[in-house]
Amino acid sequence: MPHTEQRVLIIGAGIIGLSIGWELARAGCQVDLFDRDEAGQGASSVAAGMLAPDAEIGFEETTLHALNTESRRRWPDFASKLEADTGADVGLRTEGTFIVADDRDAAEALRRRYRFQQNQGLEVEWQSGDEARDEEPFLAPHLSGAVWSPTDHQVDNQAVVKALQVAVEKHGGQLHEHTPIEAVVPNADRPGVVTNDGARVEGSTVIIAAGAWSQSIDGLNGALPIRPVKGEALRLKTKPTFDLQHVVRGPEAYVVPKNDGHVVVGATAEEKGFNDEVTARGLYKNLEGGWEVVPGLLDLPVTCTCASFRPASRDNAPVLGPVAPGIVAATGHYRHGILLTPVTAEEIARYVMTGTVSDWIEPFQPARFDAVSADLS
Ligand code: GLY
Repeated sequence: MPHTEQRVLIIGAGIIGLSIGWELARAGCQVDLFDRDEAGQGASSVAAGMLAPDAEIGFEETTLHALNTESRRRWPDFASKLEADTGADVGLRTEGTFIVADDRDAAEALRRRYRFQQNQGLEVEWQSGDEARDEEPFLAPHLSGAVWSPTDHQVDNQAVVKALQVAVEKHGGQLHEHTPIEAVVPNADRPGVVTNDGARVEGSTVIIAAGAWSQSIDGLNGALPIRPVKGEALRLKTKPTFDLQHVVRGPEAYVVPKNDGHVVVGATAEEKGFNDEVTARGLYKNLEGGWEVVPGLLDLPVTCTCASFRPASRDNAPVLGPVAPGIVAATGHYRHGILLTPVTAEEIARYVMTGTVSDWIEPFQPARFDAVSADLS
């Protein structure tokens, strides 16, 4: 079918749904995005915007790391195209990340991770606490060690989602906010969605990019085992006396300076369903964890406290590709939603337009969960 005759229905207008919608609308498809709330809210805005596959590499996650690295490689071009299309500044920063240890135990764990990073051929460098502090004076004194990861980037994720919304609409995409989708209706020719007021909308493809809510959409017999992993974070306003220049990951929290004069401190990780309370415990853990590695942040005014839900699959890797006739999954990005945006948008759009599952998304297809009951999510 020519792209101009394709009508693509996207469930979820977070950064993943918006970016896929942008790709497809630019290619000439008719795009409708449905969001249960408002576009770009939730995890897309609460996230800190780290593009840090090397700092966040998990042991035994080398296939995911390859996808993460590819997406980081694509970020500068993705950001330039989005900026050119909208005139927005999305705050891509390439100054690198310090991963730091504040005591002997943390230094031992960091050494182990550093050896794994070296073993994987990553561009990382071990530094003493003093060496790291020479580069980043806002680090705590007396750190037990640091790993310098120069190729990890960050972006202003809140600016990205705002720009994507403008860009989707500029290319004719229709945004339907406050429109929860109850169910999908698989069909190879005319798949559809059912809204919460019972209306049925048909298209040529349906994409599920509903993040932590992906499993609650009926019609797939539990084929998307996605659970919410709550994260709390806070934003502080910088002062002229506080000039942190790098992303800092400590053992208990990360601290991320943004171009708009804020610092994000996060994030907790808890599995307690869709409870979105911001708790005293969450604030305490983030502030204590942030203070241990960047003590100056305690003097900054708090502008925002927030919680959202990372969408995690059973193996904590993203779920990308066809899941039922006419239905495509683009969800389960867990800790890497902002990082994985370009590769997800481009490869899912490619699948919609050509029917080809690329080598990048092949290992992450939903079919890997078929053999096991969805009750085990
Ligand atoms: N990637 C950051 C987080 O999950 O908190």
